Amino acid sequence: MGTTIFAEMSALALATGSVNLGQGFPDTDGPAEIAEAAAAAILEGRGNQYPPGPGIPELRHAVSAHQKRFYGLEVDPDTEVLVTAGATEGIAAALLALLEPGDEAIAFEPYYDSYAACVAMAGGTRVPVTLRPPGFRPDLDALRAAITPRARLILLNSPHNPTGAVFSREELTEIAAVACEHDLLVVSDEVYEHLVFEGEHVPVASLPGMRERTVTISSAAKTFSFTGWKIGWVTGTPELVAAVRTVKQFLTYVTGGPFQYAVAQALALPDAYFASLSAGLRGKRDLLCAGLAEAGFEVYRPAGTYFVTTDIRPLGESDGMEFCAALPARAGVVAIPSAVFYDDVAAGSSQVRFAFCKKEQVLREALTRLAALARA
Ligand SMILES: Cc1ncc(COP(=O)(O)O)c(C=O)c1O
Repeated sequence: MGTTIFAEMSALALATGSVNLGQGFPDTDGPAEIAEAAAAAILEGRGNQYPPGPGIPELRHAVSAHQKRFYGLEVDPDTEVLVTAGATEGIAAALLALLEPGDEAIAFEPYYDSYAACVAMAGGTRVPVTLRPPGFRPDLDALRAAITPRARLILLNSPHNPTGAVFSREELTEIAAVACEHDLLVVSDEVYEHLVFEGEHVPVASLPGMRERTVTISSAAKTFSFTGWKIGWVTGTPELVAAVRTVKQFLTYVTGGPFQYAVAQALALPDAYFASLSAGLRGKRDLLCAGLAEAGFEVYRPAGTYFVTTDIRPLGESDGMEFCAALPARAGVVAIPSAVFYDDVAAGSSQVRFAFCKKEQVLREALTRLAALARA
């Protein structure tokens, strides 16, 4: 099933009338006022022609203000921000810019599937460091052991998809110390920065010695529930951002002009918006986790993101790929086998990921269907 598993499983969900808890997209759009801002920009002729290569100034200023407001980070909107076609393009452009053929990129697995593809496109080699249940905490000894003279960068993702782990300030400080000691760059994918239920999101760039060696990536997709708009951003030093921009120029050049105006407005939404986003998802997490446990899964409760990883062995199952392939017919639910996120497939073979960014009644329907599994 490989890298197209999300699309394949979504198609399977449609074909079988299953509840789709596979792909990570919300089934409710983001704020109406932000959608209206995008529509107004189109109708008023703002952004309908190629916007500036680095992104419109309004959005670059809004990203800068966001980093200051939430993390106290100073980011120059003119030289230290680049708007990208979602975080996906930010990741691709960063890895293509920073990796030379033969360079090693260390990433904590299980990992988001674009990482392996982009490291490969850059001619690099991925070096996985495995996060293990129940906590999926980063193993610092394993990280140190993974570093060779070819190591160029650490690819970080916290809050972490698919496990929902949120790396603590202490863990990130230790990872940062390793990066400094070995003179490694860090590419930090922070798309779930506002989806944190326990602990805090700490941008690795805010830690001592990290500002000059970190490329931070985020996007509007998860924070504002507009995954189709594909507006992301990269922040970092002028040198790092220029390197990423040079690649981005030949990937898409620019993207989503009118949406950039709307996202600039979204980033300035009041604190209450961000608080209610995570509070709403926390409730859904609790609902899905409780129901999955009741249905017989081992549940690894996530501290962030909108995914929960489970283990199917208590159900008498062991192969997540087979389990997920059969689940639509057996129970009318679609989930993702976590094995697709691992190089060490055995480490994740019995893990299955469910998304909870869905309406409450959709989650309840899925749980009713899954409860039948335990009884079967
Ligand atoms: C960890 C991670 N990074 C990046 C992305 C992609 O973000 P975007 O839609 O902004 O390209 C996703 C989407 O699922 C993700 O889970």
